[in-house]
Amino acid sequence: MAASRETFGGKLAAVLAMAGSAIGLGNIWRFPYLVGQNGGAAFILVYLVACFVLALPIFFAEAVIGRRGGGNTFSAMEKLAPGSAWKWMGLITVAAPLLLLSYYSVVGGWSVDYLFKAVTLQFTGDTSGIFERFITSTWEPLAAHTVFMAFTAAVILAGVKNGIEKFTKITMPLLFLLIIVIVVYGLTLPGSWKGVEYLVRPDLSKINVNVIATAMGQAFFSLSLGVGTILTYASYMRKEDNVVAAGTYTALSDLLFALLAGFAVMPAVFAAGIQPGQGPGLVFDTLPYIFSQMHGAGTVVAILFFFSILIAALTSSISLLEVGVAYLVEEKGWSRKRSTLVLALASWALGVLCSLSFGPMAHVQLLGKGFFDFLDSLCSDWLMPLGGLLFTLFVGWRMSKADVRDELTNGGTCNKRIFGAVYILVRYLAPIGIAVVFLSNLLL
Ligand code: PFF
Repeated sequence: MAASRETFGGKLAAVLAMAGSAIGLGNIWRFPYLVGQNGGAAFILVYLVACFVLALPIFFAEAVIGRRGGGNTFSAMEKLAPGSAWKWMGLITVAAPLLLLSYYSVVGGWSVDYLFKAVTLQFTGDTSGIFERFITSTWEPLAAHTVFMAFTAAVILAGVKNGIEKFTKITMPLLFLLIIVIVVYGLTLPGSWKGVEYLVRPDLSKINVNVIATAMGQAFFSLSLGVGTILTYASYMRKEDNVVAAGTYTALSDLLFALLAGFAVMPAVFAAGIQPGQGPGLVFDTLPYIFSQMHGAGTVVAILFFFSILIAALTSSISLLEVGVAYLVEEKGWSRKRSTLVLALASWALGVLCSLSFGPMAHVQLLGKGFFDFLDSLCSDWLMPLGGLLFTLFVGWRMSKADVRDELTNGGTCNKRIFGAVYILVRYLAPIGIAVVFLSNLLL
């Protein structure tokens, strides 16, 4: 174990870093297209409930383990349940974030490339087929993936305080500012109010099992749960900080940002007379077309938009890399530099396969899926819910209630009134909710 661990400078720094991890491609790329595919406001309504009833309790469970255990998943579990098999959960939490990072970085790379396209005025003419051409090509997405991974590694190399904390402190407020500017501009477009209506007027008949399962899965992904990221970040929190408050602020800002992203995208989509259910191409295919129709302003909005996606993706990818780095530094005694370089390189190499799976390697299939889709499904549908389930079972059933209370109430100095409710959510509701996610992934 390292002699002394770095910590975040304070509660704000911890919340910004956690919100940085939570707010990412999941909010700005995935959320708008899921809303479009799953019935608009009705999906948002279900998503709201999923965030607070399912996801937030899992967040608390991870945070309890991380802060009380004071380390990466292996050491935290070993400290809290000495000699038990629980520490092997550490394996999920080292492997899953690196698998996730490999394809996350590919999409992060798309935002690098699109920012470049916007700056070089490529969204001014005919944009038809732009996304298809781009992702099926070999070198352009690979170069972008490489640049994105290099940025991620650079922040992690700088450390917890000088890297993660400094980077998220600057970028997170900027990110909110940028998205608000884009929302305001979008609302000025003629016809945009139809998009607003679509986001705020729920048609409850649209809610079905599939919508519920999708919303739960998205809440999971969006709050960065089940793979040890929140656990690791919570281990950098000071003892006097309030983890329940930190979790709640993180969930609220994550939700707010997802909604803002919805309001940045949908009004513009409706104003252009386009159907909202375009799927994953909504941001990378439909928006460039819309930007190209805006004439002068289009380029500026495109630059702001893809820059926002890039920052949002980076503040998440650094949290994914940090989990493995914390493990190697603390458990294996590696230097931060060596750990970062080795893990970033390994993840980059896997990402190369993911990137090529849209083009030259499209014929290579694992269980009927291309490499990218296979890893995405493995992580989002299986590893994340599995991790979340084990974390909640550990906190709800393996740790003593007194210890959990002590951690969530900071030794009885805060959150005393809500502890009972939080505990029930962690012990019963969250595991049941996750079981539903599993079943639906199996059956739907
Ligand atoms: N929450 C991130 C997003 O919404 O893009 C994705 C993510 C980051 C998932 C970190 C898991 C994780 F550990």
